[in-house]
Amino acid sequence: MERLAAPGEVRMSQAIQPAHANARGELSAGQLLKWIDTTACLAAEKHAGVSCVTASVDDIQFEETVKVGQVITIKAKVTRAFSTSMEISIKVIVQDTLMDIEKLVSVAFSTFVAKPVGKEKKNWFLRASLSSQLFELLPRSPGPLADSTIAAVSTLSDPACGEEEGTVATRGTAVQSIELVLPPHANHHGNTFGGQIMAWMETVATISASRLCKGHPFLKSVDMFKFRGPSTVGDRLVFNSIVNNTFQTCVEVGVRVEAFNCQEWSEGRGRHINSAFLIYNAVDDKEELIIFPRIEPISKDDFRRYRGAIARKRIRLGRKYVISHKEEVPLCIQWDESKQASLSNGNVEAFRKLAAKRGWEVISSSKKIKIYTLEQQDVLSVWVEKHVKSPANLAYCLLSDFTKRPLWDPHYMFCEVIDRVNENDQIYYIICSEVNGDKPKDFIVLVSRRKPLKDGNTYMVAAKSIILPSVPPSPQYIRSEVICAGFLIEAIDSTSCTVSYLNQMSASILPYFAGNLGGWSKSIEEAAASCIKFIENATDDGPVSGL
Ligand code: COA
Ligand code: ADP
Repeated sequence: MERLAAPGEVRMSQAIQPAHANARGELSAGQLLKWIDTTACLAAEKHAGVSCVTASVDDIQFEETVKVGQVITIKAKVTRAFSTSMEISIKVIVQDTLMDIEKLVSVAFSTFVAKPVGKEKKNWFLRASLSSQLFELLPRSPGPLADSTIAAVSTLSDPACGEEEGTVATRGTAVQSIELVLPPHANHHGNTFGGQIMAWMETVATISASRLCKGHPFLKSVDMFKFRGPSTVGDRLVFNSIVNNTFQTCVEVGVRVEAFNCQEWSEGRGRHINSAFLIYNAVDDKEELIIFPRIEPISKDDFRRYRGAIARKRIRLGRKYVISHKEEVPLCIQWDESKQASLSNGNVEAFRKLAAKRGWEVISSSKKIKIYTLEQQDVLSVWVEKHVKSPANLAYCLLSDFTKRPLWDPHYMFCEVIDRVNENDQIYYIICSEVNGDKPKDFIVLVSRRKPLKDGNTYMVAAKSIILPSVPPSPQYIRSEVICAGFLIEAIDSTSCTVSYLNQMSASILPYFAGNLGGWSKSIEEAAASCIKFIENATDDGPVSGL
């Protein structure tokens, strides 16, 4: 790490003492949030030259735990400035002095607003009007987790609830706590430190999370702290928290904070000053991640929050995998005719394994189409399940012939067979439409299909990219990769079936799903609806060749 702070950067270093740690000897998230907020505030005030207050803290991810004895450095600097508000970027690094290594603990962005006090007011207005350099006027982009986005995404998903056994009500996880704001909790103007409020919120949220699991919850990420109004010394702060939803190994806890001054307290009329959503993992005594029980929403509020949590999860997925995805090392294998049986079986086996994985989470559900996602060690997979009123063998014939895919899949521009390897395996050349202004993408894919074994009712069509030296990449297209994808077709009865499309996302496939995951498009639902129509209409045209 560079030893000196960059211009405009503010640094804070802390050696972690037992007083900063939780019962597990790890730096408590609340303490870290306080330090982050203080460092960011100092960076904002260095830039603005007047007092500043925390307006919001965007989502924070915690990548690494910090233990007593380690040293952390928090670096904060103003990255953008608007009229009176500034965006601060914050990076937290841990140094292990014994091992002499550094690791990233967290990256966060917060917004501070200049709030000059007393004499500062006069000077600051003078400075602001004289110096356009102080605040470079930039167009403001919408916040990443705008409430309107959540509302829009919430209406997209209507998950089936309480259908399954083993679900739990959240009532038992509700926690209420109160704090009196004293001078040490506030700055010299009497305004409560944002970091202090975040730390109190984290404490109650941790208690809520711990009520759902017999283990030790630890904070994984936060979906924005938004400071809606100030609070000052003398205020009573009431914190209410409850579990909103669970997603396999994580749980979302929401916290709402209301402030009361003396008079408001006696009248029972508070000011809503903050709400935040905190995501926890938990481990058992063997340090294994705990799987949380599913939630059964009961009241109207439960349902709203349950859906809100799914919407926020989709936005997080969108951000984690789409906006900040890393280019991965291609996994493609070279086609070798002498090994065609093992390549074909490997293709089908990988697909079968993907379908058999545990932990698929529903993110959207309508009568005919359900979408699930699976996150495993930073790899995201999507499962789109649709109900089709056609016999399974017809759906299988239509879907295993990829040359027909441009007829229903809006992303497929072109598809032709390069090599008919045998009855069940074909190699295709595919061109998919451009996305985000990039060049169109092309793929070479081995498609291997299997009919059900005797007494079975599941058809399988597996697809995987291969390298074919006879078709090298061309400058016109981005050569892209399908890691593991395909269709599962299960007969329900002689006239209907369930068709599932699964895809383990590669960096090149992700942009096609970006809008859906992020919640700003319904392209997956549209492609699925078009697929259903294509299969169902085919029955009217009489038998299909190859049956
Ligand atoms: N996130 C990011 N920026 C925000 C924001 C939010 N939640 N709310 C307001 N802003 C920005 C506005 O975009 C505007 O920026 P610009 O001047 O650069 O264009 C600026 O803040 C002022 O907006 P305005 O609408 O005039 O202010 P407001 O009356 O909504 O007040 C706060 C905004 C943040 C000052 C006010 O909500 C507040 O005092 N909150 C409490 C802050 C606090 O005390 N924090 C410590 C913990 S209690
Ligand atoms: P919403 O209820 O729409 O999510 P709020 O800002 O009112 O928005 O609350 C934020 C979160 O705080 C809720 O999602 C919930 O988890 C928690 N919460 C709010 N009110 C209560 C309460 N009375 N008891 C327990 N938890 C609450």
